[in-house]
Amino acid sequence: MGVLAGILLGRRRRPNTQVYDQIDREKLPAHVAVIMDGNGRWAKQRGLPRSAGHRAGVERVRTIIRMSSDLGIRYLTLYAFSTENWKRPADEVSTLMSLLVEYLTKELPELHEKGVRIRTLGDITALPEDVQAEIARAVETTRNNTGLTVNMAINYGGRQELVAVVRRALTEGVPPEKVDEAWISSALQTAGEPDPDLMIRTSGEMRISNFLLYQLAYAELYFTDTYWPDFDEAEYAKALVDFAGRDRRFGGV
Ligand code: FPP
Repeated sequence: MGVLAGILLGRRRRPNTQVYDQIDREKLPAHVAVIMDGNGRWAKQRGLPRSAGHRAGVERVRTIIRMSSDLGIRYLTLYAFSTENWKRPADEVSTLMSLLVEYLTKELPELHEKGVRIRTLGDITALPEDVQAEIARAVETTRNNTGLTVNMAINYGGRQELVAVVRRALTEGVPPEKVDEAWISSALQTAGEPDPDLMIRTSGEMRISNFLLYQLAYAELYFTDTYWPDFDEAEYAKALVDFAGRDRRFGGV
């Protein structure tokens, strides 16, 4: 099957009830964070340009958002572009930016209809103006939605986020005794959201890569060799089933 045909069929597929049946709705994470890795290797394996891998990756963004929303998961954070991703060739950076704009333009009506709320993490002021405008439109349109919150981490870095928190404490003259875990949480870009319960990284890499450094303190980590463009409903279900079986003690016994 051609990539395009697969993508088209994938988009039209109805929810796979067999996949959903395996998932214990009582044991779902409230917040899932994902490092979507392996687009380039997926493309290389097929003799395709890296851009084809990213385009196929966008289909899986659709899948994971739709499935998270259908399952009633409250928060989903997707690492779309890190502060380090600027080191990639200019044409790849520009492909990623175009895909983001294309995705938001095309999907906004459906996301809004599903009650999805779009937010961003990271310094988006460094992005091209058209990208910023499209992001602002998506955030503004969905601001009051009460369904799944999707945090798109774009030009995001966990260390940079922590540096900003410390600077803020200093510039605002926050008294040292006021700087506790609750204050830090409220100063992070994820303020008001629960920390991720589950962090998924695809493609076999076992690193955090500057993602949500503070917030991931007690997250269950799930690593899979599957490349992001192959991370379909069944793969997501597998991660959720694995999570449901974890014994979370948060440092206790
Ligand atoms: C990692 O694969 C992936 C990225 C750096 C970008 C993720 C972006 C998308 C899935 C598309 C755009 C996002 C949205 C939200 C519409 P890689 O290129 O590092 O793969 P490799 O490690 O195999 O080279």
